[in-house]
Amino acid sequence: MECTKELQYMDIREQICDVCHKMWQLGWVAANDGNVSVKLEDGTFLATPTGISKSFITPEKLVHIDAKGEIIDGPEGARSSSEIKMHLRCYQEREDVGAVVHAHPPTATGYAVANLDLDRYTMIETIVAVGSIPVTPYGTPSTYEVPNAIAPYLQEHDVLLLANHGALTVGADLITAYYRMETLELYAKISLTAHLLGGEKEISRDNIDRLIGMRESYGVTGKHPGFKRYRKEK
Ligand code: 13P
Repeated sequence: MECTKELQYMDIREQICDVCHKMWQLGWVAANDGNVSVKLEDGTFLATPTGISKSFITPEKLVHIDAKGEIIDGPEGARSSSEIKMHLRCYQEREDVGAVVHAHPPTATGYAVANLDLDRYTMIETIVAVGSIPVTPYGTPSTYEVPNAIAPYLQEHDVLLLANHGALTVGADLITAYYRMETLELYAKISLTAHLLGGEKEISRDNIDRLIGMRESYGVTGKHPGFKRYRKEK
């Protein structure tokens, strides 16, 4: 199959590949890990296909898919990501979502594997940008278990940890979704460092509320959970 009409989406294709290359360079993905999708103006999507290293991906290797994840156009033999149901559920649940990024950034994924929510309000940038980050329930990859597990959390969060798996971010556009993954991984590293240094010190509730109230003046888009914790029984 020739990629012909998709040439009009070359800017978006190049941006997806740029994000994929950054994710690999940052060590957030190994082998074929991770997937990225972007919603197009006609309600269809450009996405990474299944089974390709994000270091080697190039614009013509992306797949153009419909709202069911069926291939509209793409390279001969290319198939949709095994996680496309998870991506499509983000778009179904949230009209404001224009891009979805899934990766396995190692420190954030460490929290997902330890089943530890990143829900301590300890660092001003993270409080303003995303708020608490829950670990969503375990789901077998490629099945509806994953979209069903994340759906309730998407109503309040743009950044999620996937139990024993990795991380998921959404945004109005791809750069916003990608930046949220950067914010998550940096916050996970800082939280781990603070833990090793004797423990995080939380910000007062008054100051947390003030920080959340500053989102509009900073022009932050998307959802925020407010002051919300997810402490699980270990
Ligand atoms: P795909 O290659 O099917 O996109 O899957 C990669 C992955 O990270 C699954 O979690």
